[in-house]
Amino acid sequence: MALKPQYEFLTLGTKPPHQTKATLSGKWVLITGATSGIGLSAARRFAKGKANLILLVRNEQKALALTKELISQFGIQVRFYLADFSKLKSVKDALQSITQNEKQIDVLINNAGVYSTKRLLTQDQTELVLTVNHLSSLLITETLIPLLGQSKGRIIQVNSEGHRFSRFALEDPHFKKRWYTGLRSYGASKTAQLHTVWALAPTLFKQGITLNAMHPGAVQSEIGLNNGWLYRTFKKLIINRMLKRVENSAEALYYLAADSSVKDAYGQYYYLTHPTMPAKHAMKNPLSKKILTWSKKVIQLALE
Ligand SMILES: NC(=O)c1ccc[n+]([C@@H]2O[C@H](COP(=O)([O-])OP(=O)(O)OC[C@H]3O[C@@H](n4cnc5c(N)ncnc54)[C@H](OP(=O)(O)O)[C@@H]3O)[C@@H](O)[C@H]2O)c1
Repeated sequence: MALKPQYEFLTLGTKPPHQTKATLSGKWVLITGATSGIGLSAARRFAKGKANLILLVRNEQKALALTKELISQFGIQVRFYLADFSKLKSVKDALQSITQNEKQIDVLINNAGVYSTKRLLTQDQTELVLTVNHLSSLLITETLIPLLGQSKGRIIQVNSEGHRFSRFALEDPHFKKRWYTGLRSYGASKTAQLHTVWALAPTLFKQGITLNAMHPGAVQSEIGLNNGWLYRTFKKLIINRMLKRVENSAEALYYLAADSSVKDAYGQYYYLTHPTMPAKHAMKNPLSKKILTWSKKVIQLALE
């Protein structure tokens, strides 16, 4: 019996991602959070596909080692910029350097992300997970639109099936009043990101840029290892055993960035490379624009 479209996500984990033979020779791909997990695997997959890479990451030592590895192994060009995504000013500074130094970006992959079991506030008094997962990626997307527009670029937001854990509460976005849990803040940050994708994608498409969101599968990565020993032990001993390999996610990202069959797709939510429906609370509705407007305002305030 066929499942209703809203329940399809329950079975998509068993479907492998599509693969493509397309190469990205001569293209420039910017990946955030490329120094571990999905981002690292994606950097290697894109390098294998002959793309030149711009890495927007926070750890200089990891960035240096990865740059060296990719250049020597694949003969591509690689440059990196440093930013802490929990500090919007730091992201802005890195973006300023990128827009000054880079001539071309063909693909932007907003991948960096965090999961926190504790409610933490940034120096701008914004909730940490929302700031890293959503506000930073929005700032990056908005700032790089002029560069992406020159080459009819593609933007992929690495989202998550975890968006199903929570709606985004405009009335309490930083969990000042509500009970905080890791799942709720993670879900809220990913839901906020989906709403901004729906709100921005049609306008960007008119400028020749495609914007889509994808769930990269449930895979073994470093996510969550910033938390206390109890969570870390649970993740390593229990959760990781049920997860797939990060190469699966990297293959899906490469397909969405390189294959010609998706060149005109925008405003889609993919499970790996399979278009599907997000949770009801994360579907396009009048809140989408409100969440975008609110997010831009918070970013603007932090950057003043
Ligand atoms: N793993 C899964 O099963 C899964 C499922 C659904 C969605 N996702 C999403 O996939 C994306 C990648 O996650 P992952 O699983 O690959 O986790 P990961 O291994 O922990 O990688 C996360 C990346 O984000 C970077 N990052 C975290 N906080 C940052 C900050 N404050 N400033 C700058 N960079 C920061 C990390 O930098 P460092 O290398 O310096 O630590 C790392 O490179 C996330 O958006 C996540 O929500 C993952």
